[in-house]
Amino acid sequence: MLKAVILIGGPQKGTRFRPLSLELPKPLFPVAGFPIIYHHIEACSKISSIKEVVLIGVYQPSEALNRFINATQREFSIAIRYLQEYATLGTAGGLYHFRDQLLSGQPEGFLVFNGDICCKFPLAEMLEFHKSATNKPHFTMLATEATRKQSVNYGCLVENADTHEVMHYVEKPETFVSTIINCGLYLLAPEIFKHIANVFQKNQSEIINGDPLFPTKDSIRFEQDVLSPLAGTGELFVYKTNNFWSQIKSAGSAIYANRLYLSLYHETHPDRLAQNSSNGPQIIGDVYIHPTAHVDPTATLGPNVTVGAGVTIGPGVRVRECMILEGAVLQDHCCILHSIIGWNSTVGAWSRVEGTPNDPNPNAPHAKVDSDALFNIEGKLNPSITILGDSVTVPPEVIILNAIVLPDKKMDGSFKNQILL
Ligand code: GDD
Repeated sequence: MLKAVILIGGPQKGTRFRPLSLELPKPLFPVAGFPIIYHHIEACSKISSIKEVVLIGVYQPSEALNRFINATQREFSIAIRYLQEYATLGTAGGLYHFRDQLLSGQPEGFLVFNGDICCKFPLAEMLEFHKSATNKPHFTMLATEATRKQSVNYGCLVENADTHEVMHYVEKPETFVSTIINCGLYLLAPEIFKHIANVFQKNQSEIINGDPLFPTKDSIRFEQDVLSPLAGTGELFVYKTNNFWSQIKSAGSAIYANRLYLSLYHETHPDRLAQNSSNGPQIIGDVYIHPTAHVDPTATLGPNVTVGAGVTIGPGVRVRECMILEGAVLQDHCCILHSIIGWNSTVGAWSRVEGTPNDPNPNAPHAKVDSDALFNIEGKLNPSITILGDSVTVPPEVIILNAIVLPDKKMDGSFKNQILL
């Protein structure tokens, strides 16, 4: 029996996801029609030995989280529960704090996921690899290739190419170490708790002076404190994937993840992809339309568009590379490109809402550097996708270009390259 653990962080994480995370915990933000961590749980549901999914985070329990947990455990017939950390305990501190609950039922191992990754989740392949690596208790991490330049934004590792043992691991190195990067997904034997306990004991005996990365002495960083020392001991292995993989840090990377998951639906859920029909809108490429959305047959959608529940899309509307969130209204002939339209927002007739894509390096299809920071070094807003927060109103016949609009704003004209409060 295996358990899955998803690290979902807390409200102080995910700040680059604002204003979208102001309304909803970021792990519940819908990508390709479903919450970010729904994709993780769906992957777990395909592995029969995974009997429970534990979400560990710092969020206060909320109606949205409870509703998600209840609906998802019903859909996949898998037990899901949420364990709340009393403070930000780091990527290993929560595992240690809840070790008794995690170890109950004596699981043979744990699949631990970073909550903010998007990938094909090659769990069956990883399990197979893990079993074949060695007979001793050991740990396997998922990795992929990035470019030299991208790599330093991630955990980097050097492997023994014959045995796939991790020989060296550095978290976000200052200078180049390797193009093999940590994907934030691990398969851990229960012995991992001995290693985390050693770090915990050491931290308790040291005074950690005002380092903001250590808000409490109970905070443990899985990458620096556990993985780095394990490298080269014969206990840590790497399984490399060539399939797509990306982080979801900013709203821009959510648009990218949306595209990746939509393309995956060709394999996993062709029924989720909209088709052209005589009485429906024109569909170009990959498009997901929630069954409760109303789309006028003269609208054109795609490629890479997700339309949420209860959305209304009027005649002549054009939408490309976008996510239109639940309850939004796109009035006649508006044009929405490279944007996220927030919950219950309205875009007026003949208006244009447009962002500038910040695509990953086309030479590195598997990883994406999250370089879409809000401001560049000159303090100017980076060209970016346009985001309308919750319940924003865009009047008719205006242009909104590369803007971030906070919730409830009633706009009264055209805007470009601005953050609108
Ligand atoms: N429960 C809990 N408590 N979760 C946490 C905490 C915490 O204190 N801190 C972070 N997390 C969750 C985040 O919500 C996120 O899902 C995941 O753990 C990763 O945390 P980050 O601290 O944001 O790390 P990162 O994304 O910059 O880097 C990590 O992921 C990369 C792959 O996406 C590292 O593991 C890198 O090595 C890796 O390349």
